[in-house]
Amino acid sequence: MSVSDNFTVVTGQEDDPYRSRVEQVYEENPQLWQKVLGESLFFHHGVYEGTDTSLEDAAKKYLDAQLELAGLAENGTHRVNRLLDVGCGWGGVMKYLAERFPTCRRLDGINVSTQQLGHAKRLLVEAGLESRGYLFLCNAQDIPLLPEPEQGYDLAIARGSIEHFTREVLDRTIAGLGQRVTRGGTVIIAAALYNDLDTYKSALDDTVDRLGCKYRKSPEQVTGLLRHYDFTVTDIRVLPNDDDAIRWFTEVQRNIDAHFPGSIPLQALREYQETASNMVAAVRSGQVSTYSIIAKRN
Ligand SMILES: C[S@@+](CC[C@H](N)C(=O)[O-])C[C@H]1O[C@@H](n2cnc3c(N)ncnc32)[C@H](O)[C@@H]1O
Repeated sequence: MSVSDNFTVVTGQEDDPYRSRVEQVYEENPQLWQKVLGESLFFHHGVYEGTDTSLEDAAKKYLDAQLELAGLAENGTHRVNRLLDVGCGWGGVMKYLAERFPTCRRLDGINVSTQQLGHAKRLLVEAGLESRGYLFLCNAQDIPLLPEPEQGYDLAIARGSIEHFTREVLDRTIAGLGQRVTRGGTVIIAAALYNDLDTYKSALDDTVDRLGCKYRKSPEQVTGLLRHYDFTVTDIRVLPNDDDAIRWFTEVQRNIDAHFPGSIPLQALREYQETASNMVAAVRSGQVSTYSIIAKRN
């Protein structure tokens, strides 16, 4: 392990040939992303339920709904002493969770993007969370190498991240969670998953690997791995519902058009425009849904 000002580097033995593709997606200035996703930079869907909730509030409502399903709403928060955010983005979710879990001693965030970790560090420092929030440049497949193995994770969340994993990385990640989540501890996953991998047909020509999400997964693959690595899946459902999933994709698209009329400055945002159109078509045709999965360690 080596330490920079912003994060600790954790390097494992296993290669991940897809990592550099994912790093590319997030290598640009977070302020440009903020124009599209909002100040807090939550980047994984939202629950609107017919209201005129903002994109950012809808994103928080989705996380709140998952915490509720996991039994970790207000009166369950004291049970979480250490938590892990797998693919922690720009740190907005960690900051939010630090406030939701005021007695949580330690929050670890792992990510492969140095750009995002730099932003996350600033966010945690500004919020006075340095003594509780720890950041790691660490591939999810290397979770077993994170420090203090004697103190397990009572909660691990992976929201919007497993879409980027190769199948091997997903397998090793869930195996790692099996090692490091405490017995009775919780895993919360949110992911856009493919309902039938054999029959899926992309609406747009799919020769481009947009946004580093080319390794599609089905809900059964994810739940199968969780069970294999000693978890019980306590809840799996489509959440947000299809209308809300479409609304979120469309709102992000609209924000991109509104803030960057004529020319979009980031390759990733250009790719997002196409991905979103593709996903809206896939959700409408029942091929893709956004799933919330809650699992408990046996
Ligand atoms: C769509 S963003 C979601 C960010 C955050 N979880 C949220 O809900 O806002 C996906 C995140 O997963 C991270 N990620 C992707 N592959 C990863 C890997 N193999 N190991 C660790 N992080 C990874 C990306 O760098 C990015 O931060």
